[in-house]
Amino acid sequence: VEYRHPKAALAMAADLPGRLFSPAQWARLRKLAELHEGVVLTEFDSPAARAVLAETEVLITGWMSPRLDEAALAAAPRLRAVLHAAGSVKGHIAPVCWRRGVLVSTAAQANAEPVAEYTLAVILLALKGVRAATARYRERRQFVDVLREFPGIGNHGRQVGLVGASRIGRRVIELLRPFSLELSLADPYLDPAEARELGVRLLPLDDLLRECELVSVHAPAIPETRHMIDGRRLALLRDGAVLVNTARGSLIDQDALVAELASGRIEAVLDVTEPEVLSPDSPLYTLPNVWLTPHMAGAQGSEVHRLADVVLEELARYTAGLPLAHPVLAEELDRIA
Ligand SMILES: NC(=O)c1ccc[n+]([C@@H]2O[C@H](COP(=O)([O-])OP(=O)(O)OC[C@H]3O[C@@H](n4cnc5c(N)ncnc54)[C@H](O)[C@@H]3O)[C@@H](O)[C@H]2O)c1
Repeated sequence: VEYRHPKAALAMAADLPGRLFSPAQWARLRKLAELHEGVVLTEFDSPAARAVLAETEVLITGWMSPRLDEAALAAAPRLRAVLHAAGSVKGHIAPVCWRRGVLVSTAAQANAEPVAEYTLAVILLALKGVRAATARYRERRQFVDVLREFPGIGNHGRQVGLVGASRIGRRVIELLRPFSLELSLADPYLDPAEARELGVRLLPLDDLLRECELVSVHAPAIPETRHMIDGRRLALLRDGAVLVNTARGSLIDQDALVAELASGRIEAVLDVTEPEVLSPDSPLYTLPNVWLTPHMAGAQGSEVHRLADVVLEELARYTAGLPLAHPVLAEELDRIA
């Protein structure tokens, strides 16, 4: 194999590379490519940025990477590959990149891991009834007879519904395998044979919402999934059901959700909302039956090094002339995150 030693540049939030790459990962990056040292592109418009782009063969992008559009691409005649150290590339890479034959890779599979782990933890604690029992104990400060006061809780034989056989949805199915929960899945793109292979029951979304005691949403934010869980569908949920959203706020009609939560009929675990950061007076901050986290299910802290590992593996494959392991293909763009 003849190895290439491509010129590479970083494009992302200015302070991100220092968090993303461990010392060992920096060393590997410098070994694999001729890195534009000390440069992190946060825009593609200035003469300085254009000068870097003009020489770059591999662009390593990440959160806050500026959009690689027609104009930026015109300034990057040698660009052959974009390796994205995060999930969705849609906001960062314009369709023209695929038309120009630039290879695009994503670390979405590595970012799916912590989201699936978070979902697993949430499912087990939610079905155990930990939130309500904690609140009751705190309020009463005396014996709580959990067996009699919370007869509906537990992680044995309960019905769990997943929406979307996405990277994350599939990983959640794998992680849930050792537990004795009954799994159902709603996904219009999945055929029954695949569902059987995954070991889950394939259901239409309405039936899944009606039957499951906990529903976790893992579909991408695309036009057809906007408000896919609307007021009518929220009303299908059983009393006491838990709705988990680590996907995107746009998938759920949030006004309808707030109304349903205010009635106390269901519970929600929300890592994402619409808007992304709620207004200070949103009831979602204070409702007792809501567990709200600041969009943290994906890679954080130590987990970001997994994203860097994917980029380095892809870079190694590129330099060896091998196909990328996590390519993003133009034809799948309108169905993925
Ligand atoms: N909270 C976080 O920090 C975090 C981190 C990463 C991803 N996410 C979100 O998690 C979700 C899943 O991400 P991913 O990378 O696993 O997605 P993905 O790109 O793998 O999902 C694509 C799949 O979703 C399924 N799908 C498409 N349309 C659907 C529909 N109408 N109903 C049901 N399923 C449908 C199809 O099987 C498709 O192949 C996305 O919304 C993503 O933005 C959140």
